[in-house]
Amino acid sequence: MNTKELTAKYIMNTYSRFDIELTNGSGIELFDEKGKSYIDFASGIAVNNLGYNNEAVNNAIINQLKKLIHVSNYFYTEPQALLAQKLAENSFASKVFFCNSGAESIEGAIKLARIYAKKISKRGYKIISMNNSFHGRTFGALTATGQDKYRKGFEPLLPGFDYAAYNNIKEIESLIDGNDDYCAILIEPVQGEGGVNIASQNYIKKIREITEKNNMMLIFDEVQVGLGRTGKLFAYMNFDVEPDIMTLAKPLAGGLPIGAILVSEKAANVFEPGNHASTFGGGPLVCSAANAFMDEILKKGFLENVAETGSYLKERLIKLKEKFSDKIKEIRSIGLISAIEFYDMKAKDIAIKLIEKGFLTTMVQEKTLRLTPPLIIGKKEIDLICSALDEILSH
Ligand SMILES: Cc1ncc(COP(=O)(O)O)c(C=O)c1O
Repeated sequence: MNTKELTAKYIMNTYSRFDIELTNGSGIELFDEKGKSYIDFASGIAVNNLGYNNEAVNNAIINQLKKLIHVSNYFYTEPQALLAQKLAENSFASKVFFCNSGAESIEGAIKLARIYAKKISKRGYKIISMNNSFHGRTFGALTATGQDKYRKGFEPLLPGFDYAAYNNIKEIESLIDGNDDYCAILIEPVQGEGGVNIASQNYIKKIREITEKNNMMLIFDEVQVGLGRTGKLFAYMNFDVEPDIMTLAKPLAGGLPIGAILVSEKAANVFEPGNHASTFGGGPLVCSAANAFMDEILKKGFLENVAETGSYLKERLIKLKEKFSDKIKEIRSIGLISAIEFYDMKAKDIAIKLIEKGFLTTMVQEKTLRLTPPLIIGKKEIDLICSALDEILSH
């Protein structure tokens, strides 16, 4: 049996896959089993921010795996401590907890918000999250996810979640008004799976004011848009506000599984030994990869280049929208995450046509195509995908 047949026979049917088998990659290129090359505008869904076969990340992994892959958190390991220092010293955070995925980081953030409310702020356990959000597939994260299509069939969900429309401060105010039921607001500063929806400056500032005033935790989910994707190290840096808790995952360990919860001083010492734990969380192998990843994106000029390339991508996409104003409804873009929303065309059909032309993209919502290239993408590749889109939309 070939790979496709084995997958159909032995893997649970949870993914709808494109008809390609990928075998290797280099820089911004991926190759299939027949040797055909693709320029990557997907990055394994915003994971491979340094592209493929990055020398620094590879070397870090190889060196560490010869020393130690795993030990339990009963012991200290240097890569974990150094990574926490790197994250804290380059963000609002004073402490970090490591886990293994985005969903897990959300679970930890929910627990932390609840225990802070119980021990310190003496508020209720409820959390406000946003319509159209995506926070993961485990029960807490799934409940926080404000999209019925993911939750349907899995009820009963976790108690204590209410939802507000994104970029609508009035809905949040009216939920909180005069009661102390809520302990936290959980929000993506840029909604990834929801369609690359970007929060307004004023909205985020108001949310910060409300959470501050009520001693609630402000949790930013930066699993998809943190770590350079928006052209700043963290998405919150585009808004001039700091959260109390931030979740990270996807790109942090250069493609190895990792998650992290970063917390401000206020919540840094609320968890006590025994409150929260993870067998694999913060293991030396993934943390070594993550240290190398962080060193790369913190290099002088790296993030500035992301911002510049991102502006170029946005400019080119807006030009496409002007040319195909009957087909493209809206472009939403910040740094190197962009959405092309169509009026009637199915994003999957466009993605398949792009595959034929040698480009990999992803879909968010039925009519919205998402571009999340590796952060090392160049203007040349942006020109190439825009020409391909031009050809596709012309026919
Ligand atoms: C914003 C956000 N939060 C959480 C998650 C869940 O991450 P994971 O798939 O690693 O559990 C995702 C995944 O796409 C995400 O985009």
